[in-house]
Amino acid sequence: MRQATLHQLKVFEAVARHNSFTRAAEELFLTQPTVSMQVKQLSKAVGLPLFEQVGKRLYLTTAGKELFGTCKELFDRLSEFESKIADLKGLKRGVLRLSVITTAKYIIPRLLGLFSQRYPGIDISLKVTNHERISERMLNNQDDLYVMSQLPEDFDINVHSFLENPLVVLAPRSHPLVKETNIPLQRLADELFIMREPGSGTRQAVQKLFDEQNIKVKVKLDLGSNEAIKQAIAGGLGISVLSRHTLTSENMNNEIAVLDVEHFPIRRHWYVIYPAGKQLSIVAKTFFDYLMNEGKVIAEQNFIHNHNINVTSDLNYPAKD
Ligand code: PGA
Repeated sequence: MRQATLHQLKVFEAVARHNSFTRAAEELFLTQPTVSMQVKQLSKAVGLPLFEQVGKRLYLTTAGKELFGTCKELFDRLSEFESKIADLKGLKRGVLRLSVITTAKYIIPRLLGLFSQRYPGIDISLKVTNHERISERMLNNQDDLYVMSQLPEDFDINVHSFLENPLVVLAPRSHPLVKETNIPLQRLADELFIMREPGSGTRQAVQKLFDEQNIKVKVKLDLGSNEAIKQAIAGGLGISVLSRHTLTSENMNNEIAVLDVEHFPIRRHWYVIYPAGKQLSIVAKTFFDYLMNEGKVIAEQNFIHNHNINVTSDLNYPAKD
């Protein structure tokens, strides 16, 4: 192991965690050949292969599994060390690692602006992805704080309610249902439906309601992005259910409308979460306090408030919310 470098270990850890050279390359902003080369050199330094390819799947060898476990411990210890040193120096500096679900991207980056002006020594790593991926990241202890709407069941976590995150039914503005009120849920079964991808919390919440109410919708297509779904609705591909926060790009507000369907909006919240045993660094604690106090007020006053006005007047948003 004499020639192994920390960089090679980081690259290897990402490949092993994603079980994919491509995804590791994306995460690390490297090219795939660079990632393969780093792993190859590391494998040489170890003296044994670290991965094996069976069919199309990549597997860790026994040596790879050992090294993966070692890497996880090593990086956890290093990041603990870094934040302890920063804490000891009483400095609000270091890296803040956040993972947020797709809809939180409409608010969290805005709140980060002010935070980052106030604490220029804090670098921020923000991952925006769906619930399934966030749970994976939490399991691997990859971030300081997580923002999500559906609480993971298999973790012992600290949960703090942040803001409302209701789900609404969206249709093209020219759709005949736009003029109707109190539309029976069953009526959605006659429409072509656009669903978020498996692993999405939005999809899970919608599916749960449909299962409970015994509704079978005709899913025309699965899409992994809220923005792409809005474009598809505007393009007449079907209707969908998304978080009301996705209606912030004003340029689309005259193309899609919120339908007044019974059982909607599905009321949910964004929560700020971290694993129960986790010691928050000063940096993470500083951001947490900012988010729960100032951040919440800024979002409610400047963002959610304006957004509601926009939705009720322009988007025929049902008065009941
Ligand atoms: P999702 O979560 O990206 O996993 O669908 C979004 C939300 O719950 O608001």
